[in-house]
Amino acid sequence: MSNSLLHPFSLPEQAASDYVNIVRGEGSIVFDDSGKDYVDGLANLWLCQVGYGRTKIVEAVTNQMSQIHAYNTFPPFTNSPAERITEMIVERSPHPDGRVFLGSSGSEAVDTVLKIARVVMQQRGQTERQIIVKRTNGYHGTNFGGTSAQGIAPNREGWGDLVPHFIEVPHDDLEATAQVFAEHGDRIAAVLTEPVQGAGGVHPPVDGYLEGLRRLCDQHGALLIFDEVICGFGRTGHWFGAQAFGVTPDLMTFAKGVTSGYLPLSGVIVSRDICAELEKPEFLLRTGYTYSGHHASCAAGIANLEIMTEEGLPERANHVGEKLAEGLAALASDGLIESWRGMGAVYAAELGRDSVPTRNEMLKNGVIVRPIGTCLAICPPLVISDDEIGRILDTMESALK
Ligand SMILES: Cc1ncc(COP(=O)(O)O)c(C=O)c1O
Repeated sequence: MSNSLLHPFSLPEQAASDYVNIVRGEGSIVFDDSGKDYVDGLANLWLCQVGYGRTKIVEAVTNQMSQIHAYNTFPPFTNSPAERITEMIVERSPHPDGRVFLGSSGSEAVDTVLKIARVVMQQRGQTERQIIVKRTNGYHGTNFGGTSAQGIAPNREGWGDLVPHFIEVPHDDLEATAQVFAEHGDRIAAVLTEPVQGAGGVHPPVDGYLEGLRRLCDQHGALLIFDEVICGFGRTGHWFGAQAFGVTPDLMTFAKGVTSGYLPLSGVIVSRDICAELEKPEFLLRTGYTYSGHHASCAAGIANLEIMTEEGLPERANHVGEKLAEGLAALASDGLIESWRGMGAVYAAELGRDSVPTRNEMLKNGVIVRPIGTCLAICPPLVISDDEIGRILDTMESALK
């Protein structure tokens, strides 16, 4: 094995031979280079909604690439796949009359949404409004904006100075947030939150929390941003977490599930009201990426959303979740786990101790889940079968025993 690859979130000293070399996937199963199969209980990294080996997406990308693989969408250029995927996204979102900015990664979407929130305030003449309120346990990617927005402290440390004007609030504490608004209300541009916190350990919001944030933002003239990079595209049992919780943000990020990862694609959904502020004469949106509107990525997204719609995968997330919740409840009542939490098709088993050894044992036995501190996250493809869910839970049970 080569040692040239520097892995993300890794110990660079770790030997290349420690890694599992994934070579193939089919449905909810992935295979390593020895032919061993694994049930993918994390859908790659919270994203492969339609499962592996979907020829419809492969063909859509191949057809697109045989015409042209990519061309930028900086003025005066545009392309039909980019226009079509953005239309499909807004139709499924709470902002059917909104517009969509495209990028490649969730981190790009987060940095862009922070810039849009700030530029809107500048356009309104409220130049003092630069503060972004963010939550403990929040994960918002690893570009400088997203790193500054992290509520997972170790991810912020060691990089030198980050972006200023972020204030962190405890993750389910509306009162603390109200206090921050009381102190800094006229300097706050936006509140940034995941509907369900994902990488921070799968924390659904407490009842009324997101509604409370919406109210505070409205009262104080701030914007509400949902980072839907994990929640978006069916994970919560709806197309977006916003719809699952009945709370409409002004701006929403997405990535991951929009293509199920067949090619990188991300973006920001902008409400009609915010669009109106950007559509003023002479305003230039001076931000964007070479791959904003990449033809082949957009073609992958179109085919992926067609599959998700035809197969009713957002609704199917609820079935997957019921099976996971049943199994986790049984593990808790047997005293094998401390507790469990989740919604839609994203759950966590709380072990109350370092979860890496249990993850390692499960991996050895052909099941992939993600250790986050003291919990194990489960976020499988939305097409996963009941038998495969059973295999995840049985393997967890024997690893815990
Ligand atoms: C909520 C959230 N925002 C942003 C990101 C960053 O996305 P990416 O890794 O594609 O840059 C992630 C990644 O897991 C995420 O979960």
